[in-house]
Amino acid sequence: MSGQSKDQILEQIAGLKNEMQESIAAASSAEALQDLKVRFLGKKGTLTGILKGLASLSGEDRGAVGKTANELKLWYEGANEKKEGELRAARMASLATEEFIDLTPLPSGLVMGDSPARPGTLHPTTILQRELEQIFTKMGFAIADGPEVETDFYNFEALNFTDDHPAREMQDTFYTKDGTLLRTHTSSVQVRTLQKNGAPLRIVAPGRVYRYEEIDASHEHTFYQMEGMVIDKKVNVANLLYLMQTLLKEVFRRKVTVRLRPGYFPFVEPGFELDMQCEICKGKGCAVCKHSGWVEVLPCGLVHPNVIRLAGFDPNEWQGAAFGLGLTRLVMLRYGIEDIRLQMNPDIQFASQFTRGIQLQEAL
Ligand code: PHE
Repeated sequence: MSGQSKDQILEQIAGLKNEMQESIAAASSAEALQDLKVRFLGKKGTLTGILKGLASLSGEDRGAVGKTANELKLWYEGANEKKEGELRAARMASLATEEFIDLTPLPSGLVMGDSPARPGTLHPTTILQRELEQIFTKMGFAIADGPEVETDFYNFEALNFTDDHPAREMQDTFYTKDGTLLRTHTSSVQVRTLQKNGAPLRIVAPGRVYRYEEIDASHEHTFYQMEGMVIDKKVNVANLLYLMQTLLKEVFRRKVTVRLRPGYFPFVEPGFELDMQCEICKGKGCAVCKHSGWVEVLPCGLVHPNVIRLAGFDPNEWQGAAFGLGLTRLVMLRYGIEDIRLQMNPDIQFASQFTRGIQLQEAL
């Protein structure tokens, strides 16, 4: 076999470098680059083939050609790597425009860690509050809001509780160090709204209230109310009772057994306690109704003339009806919850059983 000369082999190597250069420049994907590498440097590759010719060279020449071949290999690897980097960068740049992925149809937040997160549900108090707000809105009421940290004036004085009024004792109060208090009822919102919006007026004020109470199955220091007030030129007890009956019928979606007793509240005259037969024991007596068979749900009355006067209106011209719905207690009656403390409990399993299946999105 006629051996090749050193120069011939070096020429082949130089030619190969040109071919490599052009091929790399033309490669348009990582796969193409990989194929080229096999073609040029693989066991059956071009360079290996050229180097077979080394056998016929003298030791000195073989060393020189071997060095050149090695340099070519190193150069190739560098060029290959550079091209890989360029292709990767180009791919990333095109991803943003060419492979736009629309994530909007995917449910958001449904995976937490490795396990799917459950969809949120509404607390039974929130469900009932929203339902009542709808009922009242249909009856022409506006929803009013007010502060939970209240002044003595709006919580007591404007509602006809004088300084030394024994009725203040009825509502054990949390006082703050600076002389304000945590509202003991949402009646505090009534005078605020009357002062602000004027008469005639129809409002309900839903919200959280606080009492310094010993906690048991039917008493909490924190609970929810929804108090309402109607101020108009002519309001009487018949109007009030009709309103209360309509309300309870809407809430329970059936006729409920109620009884009316005289009740005392400084801001109404006359005042009533409207009791409902206990839904939990059906009147037989249980912890919720303190074994009486009846639960107070709706204290109400005609607004005391002093309250109307203190809000800046003439009680000879304006009259009113007011009622205080115990939202928390109503939730217990409606869902048959025997212990009021469960409602403030942060147990999600408790809260979610009333709304199973309702997706937060739907409910909002
Ligand atoms: N504000 C009273 C309470 O929380 C309830 C009430 C409201 C009574 C309206 C009569 C009229 O106890």
